[in-house]
Amino acid sequence: MSDRNSIIGNQKAKDRVVVLDFGGQYSHLIVRRCRELGVYAELLPYDTPVEELKRGIESEGGEGKINGIILSGSPFSVHEPGSPRCNSEIIDLDIPILGICYGAQLIAYTKGGVVGEGMKSEFGRAELIFEDSGLFYGLTERGSESGKMNVWMSHGDLIEQFDGADIIGHTMNTPVAAFRIANTYGVQFHPEVHHTDKGDKILWNFLYEICGCERNWAIESFINDKIEDIKRVIGAEGRVICGLSGGIDSSTTAVLINKAIGDRLTCIFVDNGLLREGEKEMVITTFKNNFNMKLVFVDAKERFLKGLWGVKDAEVKRKVIGELFIIIFEEEANKLGNVDFLAQGTIYPDRIESAGASSQKSSRIKSHHNVGGLPEKLELKLVEPIADLYKDEVREVAKELGMPLPILNQHPFPGPGLAARVIGEVTEEKLRICREASDIVEAELENSGWYDKVWQAFAIVGDDVATGVLGDARSLGRIVMIRVVESKEAMTADFVKLPYDVLESMSKRITNEVKGVTWVTYAISSKPPATIEPC
Ligand code: XMP
Repeated sequence: MSDRNSIIGNQKAKDRVVVLDFGGQYSHLIVRRCRELGVYAELLPYDTPVEELKRGIESEGGEGKINGIILSGSPFSVHEPGSPRCNSEIIDLDIPILGICYGAQLIAYTKGGVVGEGMKSEFGRAELIFEDSGLFYGLTERGSESGKMNVWMSHGDLIEQFDGADIIGHTMNTPVAAFRIANTYGVQFHPEVHHTDKGDKILWNFLYEICGCERNWAIESFINDKIEDIKRVIGAEGRVICGLSGGIDSSTTAVLINKAIGDRLTCIFVDNGLLREGEKEMVITTFKNNFNMKLVFVDAKERFLKGLWGVKDAEVKRKVIGELFIIIFEEEANKLGNVDFLAQGTIYPDRIESAGASSQKSSRIKSHHNVGGLPEKLELKLVEPIADLYKDEVREVAKELGMPLPILNQHPFPGPGLAARVIGEVTEEKLRICREASDIVEAELENSGWYDKVWQAFAIVGDDVATGVLGDARSLGRIVMIRVVESKEAMTADFVKLPYDVLESMSKRITNEVKGVTWVTYAISSKPPATIEPC
């Protein structure tokens, strides 16, 4: 039976700080900053039951103790009906709490403070005048009781009055920009964004001085702990198969498990017909030359194409592909015999974006095939050793593990492969166009020195056709859309403002070299509101 609790990947054994997510644009950034400062942090929905948090707070060793709670920002106002509220008991828990922006307003509102509605919105830099206190410890000039610094504001509502709290910071427009009641703190500004001077030191003070956290998050110790974890969970006899796509996530997963259990791991590389140009050869050669791992190759092109016949809906495509992968992995496991575990390269954003309504204020964005295609009943137990890592943390782990450059430096590629880039039904013709055009996009980026500066770059094809001229004759052909984005961890992204000459050479080559294409366009939507992949 599939049992998501059996996943190796969640760091429950580590002491941690919990960030309750009220839907703010910087919620992930708060988690990242804590981890960068050396403390394991995780994002939980704002409606996480108080009992679950209490268990973490009271935990003594083993389970991993919760040392502090951070309440994130939110696009909502505390006055709006239906705005996200955590159980008010959480705010009274005997544990250090830090509210940021909406989080601070919610604490004030719950404890009788006055939160004014949208009267004096503040966006951008503001000068904070603060008192030397726990949160701002070490930030004033030597001997001085107060100090000034630039902070980043982004709020409509603000706390106007908060009797019973010590007001430890204000700006010209915000009378209560920072407050304290015993171990509970609130700040109206965003210490997690780089525009706040010394924001890192404020968070450092919260984590180390106020919560008393120990430094427990670093890539080297992650690798060692994880290898020990894998050994413990797989046991001395257990055998694992790992779905290897050649992307950095599954490759890192495979190398970690291989380090822990050696040849009791078998990697399964499936050619689903949705791969990039030259990808199959690259993966097989790279793994053969660099790692001493068992690798089984499965040619399943026909099965995937058949499964995708007539399927137009993007979510259904993802499900079909995810399910077929699982069926193939189970078949291969049966052929090998005595396999107990299936390893996947699921990472943190995959979990969050596929999670859907784990909290009522977040919705499912896409079923990432690692997590979305799992059947109700899976005979194999899941192993997901990097399920708590962000993409750039995975890159750091991979680098530390000596991952070869072709894998380390490549752009992320989605689990559903080119099917995520073929709008509407996946046909052989559209796949060919998508594959050949994407290859040109990547090659032109390499030639112009842009490849390593962007997050992802590829071509998209749908069913639209447009008129062109071929020789002297009118001809109808497909429209190819080029998508090149910059991003930090794929939760948000911007289209890249590529120079026109780079776009022009891509466009020329695509129309000249890819049969059946008459028009080339450039996708200029950011995420949000778009996503990176069209399907
Ligand atoms: P979206 O399109 O949701 O993509 O903005 C965010 C990032 O995730 C990648 N992606 C996937 N990765 N399995 C994966 O392993 C998937 O099903 C999947 N779908 C999207 C996408 O390429 C981008 O980097």
